[in-house]
This record gives sequence, C-alpha cells and structure tokens, in this order.
Amino acid sequence: MKVTVVGAGAVGASCAEYIAMKDFCSEVVLVDIKEGFAEGKAMDLMQTASLNGFDTKITGTTGDYSKTAGSHVAVITSGIPRKPGMTREELIGINAGIVKEVTENLVKNSPEVIIIVVSNPMDTMTYLVHKTSGLPKHKIIGMGGALDSARFKYRLAEALEAPISDVDGMVIAAHSDTGMLPLLSKATRNGVPVTEFLDEAKQKYVIEETKVGGATLTKLLGTSAWYAPGAAVSVMVQAIACDQKKMIPCSLMLDGEYGESDICLGVPAIIGKNGVESIVNISLTEEEKAKFAEAAQAVREVNGDLKF
Ligand code: NAI
Repeated sequence: MKVTVVGAGAVGASCAEYIAMKDFCSEVVLVDIKEGFAEGKAMDLMQTASLNGFDTKITGTTGDYSKTAGSHVAVITSGIPRKPGMTREELIGINAGIVKEVTENLVKNSPEVIIIVVSNPMDTMTYLVHKTSGLPKHKIIGMGGALDSARFKYRLAEALEAPISDVDGMVIAAHSDTGMLPLLSKATRNGVPVTEFLDEAKQKYVIEETKVGGATLTKLLGTSAWYAPGAAVSVMVQAIACDQKKMIPCSLMLDGEYGESDICLGVPAIIGKNGVESIVNISLTEEEKAKFAEAAQAVREVNGDLKF
C-alpha cells in the first residue's frame, strides 16, 4: 500500500509519522512546494525508523508527482492554516487554488486513488475535489468528524472525570466552529448515556468547548493543531489500508442522506478498502435535524464562493 501526503507541514508530517509508526503501509511519499522541505521531513522521519521500530519507507519530493504514481490513498494537507482569530472559511481563496491543482496532479499520476481532504475550509475543499477530480464519490473523503469526535471525547472525559477509553461520542455536520454538531444525545460512558451523569451546565460546557476546540488550540499555538489532526487522518488511512470497515464520521457528498444533496457534510460512514463503503443513517432528534440543516445552509454559502 502506497500513500501520498501532499503538504509536508505540521499536519502532513504528523500524519506521515503516525502512519509510519503503525507500520501498515509499505511506502509514504511526502510532497511539498517548498524546495527540499518534503525531502528533509522524510529523511528526518526515516531516521526515527530504527528507533521507533517501523519498516515503512518514507520519501519526499518537491512537486515531482511522478514519484506519487500508483498511490492507493492520497491525503491533501497543502494550504495555509488558520492564524489566531481567523475562521476556517477565511482560507478559501488561497486554499481552493492549491487543492484544485494538487488534485489534478494526484489523479493524473494515480487514476485509482482515494483522496482524503484535510485543507480548510474542509467541507468546501472536499466539495471542490468532487467537482473537479472526476473520481467516483466513494473515493473522496473529508477529514473533520474523526478529529472533532476525538476532541468531543476529550471534553466528555474531562467533564465526567472518566478515562477517555470509557467514553464514546460522535460529531457530525460541518467542520466549523458554528456548524459542528456534537451528538450529546448519543454520547455514552460505558454504554450509559452521559446525560445521566452531566448536569445542564456541564453538557453546555462540553458542547461549546468541542465546537471551539480548533480555535482554542490556534490561540494557544499561534497556528492550527497537528497531533490530533495527523492521528485522525492516520486512523482513516488505516481503515482503508486494512479494509477495517470502521465507522468514522467523515465529510461526504450527500445525495438525499440526512435530507441534503449536492453538499459535503460530516456523517457517519463505514470506511474500508473502497473508501466509503456506505453512509450510516442514525436517527437524529428534531433539534439535531434543525442544526444539521442550518450547518448545511452555512456550508452552501461558503461553497458559493468557489470558482471552478
Ligand atoms: P502548514 O503551513 O504547516 O503546512 C502546509 C504545507 O503545505 C506547507 O509546508 C506548504 O509549503 C505546503 N504547500 C502549500 N502549497 C502547496 C502546493 N501547491 N503543493 C504542495 N504543498 C504545498 O499547515 P498545516 O498546519 O499543516 O495545515 C494544513 C491545512 O490543513 C490547513 O489548511 C489547515 O487549516 C488544515 N487543517 C485541517 C484540519 C481538519 O480537521 N480538516 C485540522 C488541522 C489543519
């Protein structure tokens, strides 16, 4: 299994590192536009192989896409990240041009590739890849829900004063501070609804902190986060590489599911060797349905700024 990661910056390098450490791929190719950067990151990571005990071969290239030929999966992290105070939506102009060009290069060299989109605003960038790549829709997956759900579980465990492995929860809808929908009604602690343990103030705290999870880190770090985003991507790549048929919330092109069409939004899906094996329909409360529709409307407006 060969995986390409475009963008050898914070998220791309972290994702390559987690993939290599789990040792389920034969090769990871890092691509960046900055001269020598991907080669340097690849060499540095390869020098951890004997220390960390993996055999995955990591190589880097400055924009030579022939080196990515035959990739099964490609991850697009190229683009600019948020600075403190910025919304993900403000990145659209620059990142759309980058994502479109990168997609063309990837598909030209690996016509069978499955693409995972990370660059922000992610739901809109995923939509752009659908509209420009010519790939079937099961091969285009946006990464947002996996990360946001991990942040939700972190906040749930904190509020419950419980180990993270005891809690379960999922975030769907948009990957944005306002459009994210943490499904508190379905979150559990060892199978028991968390609403039985958390009072209203704590429930509100968990939801609000989850929604601004990315912004909180951007404020602390001066740029957006990389460890959890990289780990989230690696889980998705592993689900494909190992045909795990794992349920992961991802941004997918909807065709009537959850009442929406011609839009990419976060929904639970089974991820396996074909990419998206199926979309899972979970029942939402009336309030959750309304919030999902509201998030869709906001993403549609951002999509309107795209020029193909
Ligand atoms: P970064 O600035 O550390 O890395 C981006 C890399 O992309 C840079 O090394 C840059 O040289 C490279 N690049 C730019 N144009 C390129 C091109 N045309 N071809 C190849 N490489 C190119 O940024 P970071 O922190 O890694 O974030 C990357 C993107 O991922 C941002 O848009 C950020 O907002 C997004 N992000 C998305 C998350 C999600 O949950 N979907 C989570 C975290 C970040």
